[in-house]
Amino acid sequence: MADKVRVGVIGAGVISASHLAGYRANPDRCEVVVIADLDRSRAESRRDEFGLPEATTDAEAVFGRDDIDAVSICLPHSLHEPFVVRAAEAGKHVLCEKPFALNVASLDRMAAACQAAGVVCMSAQVLRFRAIHQAARAFIRTGVLGRIHQTWRRRGGISRSLSQNPWIYDRKQGSLVVHGFGAHEYDILMWLQDAPAETVYACGRVNNPIWDTEDEVSAVFTLRDGSFANMRQSLNTLDGGWDEYIMADHGCLKVGSSSFEWQPVEGEKQVHEHPLDPTGGFAGECGEFVAAVQEDREPEASVRQARWVQATMEAVETSIREGRVVNLREEFGEFGPISVS
Ligand SMILES: NC(=O)c1ccc[n+]([C@@H]2O[C@H](COP(=O)([O-])OP(=O)(O)OC[C@H]3O[C@@H](n4cnc5c(N)ncnc54)[C@H](O)[C@@H]3O)[C@@H](O)[C@H]2O)c1
Repeated sequence: MADKVRVGVIGAGVISASHLAGYRANPDRCEVVVIADLDRSRAESRRDEFGLPEATTDAEAVFGRDDIDAVSICLPHSLHEPFVVRAAEAGKHVLCEKPFALNVASLDRMAAACQAAGVVCMSAQVLRFRAIHQAARAFIRTGVLGRIHQTWRRRGGISRSLSQNPWIYDRKQGSLVVHGFGAHEYDILMWLQDAPAETVYACGRVNNPIWDTEDEVSAVFTLRDGSFANMRQSLNTLDGGWDEYIMADHGCLKVGSSSFEWQPVEGEKQVHEHPLDPTGGFAGECGEFVAAVQEDREPEASVRQARWVQATMEAVETSIREGRVVNLREEFGEFGPISVS
């Protein structure tokens, strides 16, 4: 391999700009060689925007090149499995957008292909790389909270009109709330307190006729650390609520999108500011990916760590459909760790 990891980006849609900015922020470790999209104008426009050497409509040709070490998969969810498996078969390290897969069986096939090929395989859990979440996690890990009782997390928003991406409305791509947002929210809830879910119970309803999937979801998780969590998601909140409260023996921690507040049972409230970097966490995410490739190690948010959030998304879906509590270990077998740190 060359000194720098040589990257091909597959898919030139919305999220490709974040990957390109993330790689650009790590110039000592990597360079993007080519961007591919079926839509030529999109590929060429990203090429020009980021000053890339090449754009192509032929993703398959990217996999066949010896001067590409790694790929970013920035495609609609249902294309993740065929493209990740193809990347592995071609010996390319792979960073794949979230939701990594549409179900656990699919993730397991992708993980097996990457393991057989000996390539690094990472899920784009970008929230893990935001300064606010890294700082909040480090704060929790000091033990200052004591025993955690309960966590509330919410992700609200307004989304009542058709998006420019029609594939989002296709049920075969999964649900926007459970897969699109849940891939971030369930992962960060569990990762912050290093406590994956043991059981999941969820309710969901389709209310807005433009959606074929639930626009309101509430889920209760029991977590490995003995606490429980309440995850609230809605596309109808009219404002963009996005925060978390962790209630514990020694106080309450409130985690926002750029600061966290610690109110101890006794003592003054502390406010810790951790503004979002200009890449929204993608500098850290892409930097971690290429560092893991160079150092031949498991990255943060590896595919086996992402099995937790994949199983949680599937458990939420199952619980909504069947009205029952889903036990993750009984349903999906054994899991590895949720983090390398
Ligand atoms: N991390 C985040 O916060 C975040 C935000 C947005 C999207 N995403 C994820 O990124 C993925 C892509 O989402 P998006 O919003 O960029 O979608 P998009 O529709 O904007 O872009 C997808 C691109 O893939 C191209 N494409 C489709 N089939 C192809 C093929 N066979 N070969 C080459 N190109 C092909 C399309 O032409 C399109 O340009 C999704 O899984 C989504 O969940 C993540």
